[in-house]
Amino acid sequence: MGWRNRSSLLFFLVLCIVHVIDAMNFRNNTHQAEYTQFLLANGVARTPPMGWNSWNHFQCNINESTVKTIVDALVSTGLAAVGYKYVNLDDCWAERNRDWRGNLRAKSSTFPSGIKTLADYVHARGLKLGIYSDAGYMTCSNTMPGSLGHEEQDARTFAEWGVDYLKYDNCYNDGSKPQKRYARMSYALQKVGRPILYSLCEWGQENPATWAGLYGNAWRTTGDINDTWESITSIADQNNIWGRYAGPGKWNDPDMLEVGNGGMSLEEYRSHFSIWAVMKAPLLIGCDVRSASKETLQILGNKEVINVNQDPMGVQARKLRSKDGLEVWAGPLSSKRVVVVLWNRGRSVAPISVTWRDVGLSPYKPVVVRDLWAHSFVSRNKRFRLTANVAPRGCKMYVLSPY
Ligand SMILES: *[C@@H]1O[C@H](CO)[C@@H](O)[C@H](O)[C@H]1NC(C)=O
Ligand SMILES: *[C@@H]1O[C@H](CO)[C@@H](O)[C@H](O)[C@H]1NC(C)=O
Ligand SMILES: *[C@@H]1O[C@H](CO)[C@@H](O)[C@H](O)[C@H]1NC(C)=O
Repeated sequence: MGWRNRSSLLFFLVLCIVHVIDAMNFRNNTHQAEYTQFLLANGVARTPPMGWNSWNHFQCNINESTVKTIVDALVSTGLAAVGYKYVNLDDCWAERNRDWRGNLRAKSSTFPSGIKTLADYVHARGLKLGIYSDAGYMTCSNTMPGSLGHEEQDARTFAEWGVDYLKYDNCYNDGSKPQKRYARMSYALQKVGRPILYSLCEWGQENPATWAGLYGNAWRTTGDINDTWESITSIADQNNIWGRYAGPGKWNDPDMLEVGNGGMSLEEYRSHFSIWAVMKAPLLIGCDVRSASKETLQILGNKEVINVNQDPMGVQARKLRSKDGLEVWAGPLSSKRVVVVLWNRGRSVAPISVTWRDVGLSPYKPVVVRDLWAHSFVSRNKRFRLTANVAPRGCKMYVLSPY
């Protein structure tokens, strides 16, 4: 047996083992499958969700006038038109105490008109409203109640207000398994008669990729992102290993975008956005859109990169190769196309190469290569490979289309 045969046999064996483990996990969860089918049949998040969330930039400093002006900015910048449709409140939108019937209520000092009015404002502009709660007794800010023990009541409240998306955090919980606590909110949401995108945020603690697809549309795979290179590289690697669990209606979530928040260079933000896009991550803008620079808007608004993220096939790209900080990420797209990211994590310009064989295309296939950041077709002298000089901490992103 040649080395190639032996390594294919080994690869095959590993695949078998992976499938057996998958099947066992699935069997363990089949009693919940009836609920799942209902949830996944609601048609939500067939491609990764896109929108804006208040946390990365504003933390608890949010109020209804800020959110409304952000909505206006999403529309006026054209970001809404390229797909950013969810406007998501994070922590700190509610009063510390429930009302006399036990219902959550908007914080009167910051959201005096209430959430329903805000939802109407958002819907009138063709967008959708997201809200935040927690599978514990209090949310992470410790300023508002969590939904543990109030799942059905809170799900009804959200539906009455016209909420379209729920991010569900994990602070101040009772120590029971997230599988239980997150399932309860899933069942509650399925009863309210309104499709609500359900985003689980248990920080990747119990390997949610292996079970959360039964209950929700996205799940965090890691702890919180921050606006540093160390954070995005480490999160990209942690999220990468769960790729095979993602698909239409169920996505790995490496957390919201930091693009435009000022902690990284434009080159670094382009890498952040490119890798999030190919990992089929939810693309949730985390900056103050009202004061975003032209360069920030060009990154977030790159329609060719967004199209990769929103490709109907919904397969998460993975890291194929990494040597001395020079990486190749790739994944399949619809119409037999392939997306490739050449990512230089190092401190100096370096050439990175990829062959058609590396990315699963037949080795002598004629291919058109589109550069998604230069917005141009690439002409090459070597026909079946691609080499590019990649800027420090930068990347090149291509779509290969066989013809
Ligand atoms: C299935 O569940 C059983 C009992 O809860 C457990 O012992 C086993 O490890 C589980 N299998 C997998 C593959 O998770
Ligand atoms: C909303 O927050 C912004 C920024 O913190 C502040 O300038 C503004 O006065 C607040 N508006 C209201 C109505 O609280
Ligand atoms: C940001 O994330 C990195 C990687 O997880 C971590 O090492 C660092 O401490 C974080 N920085 C801040 C300011 O939280």
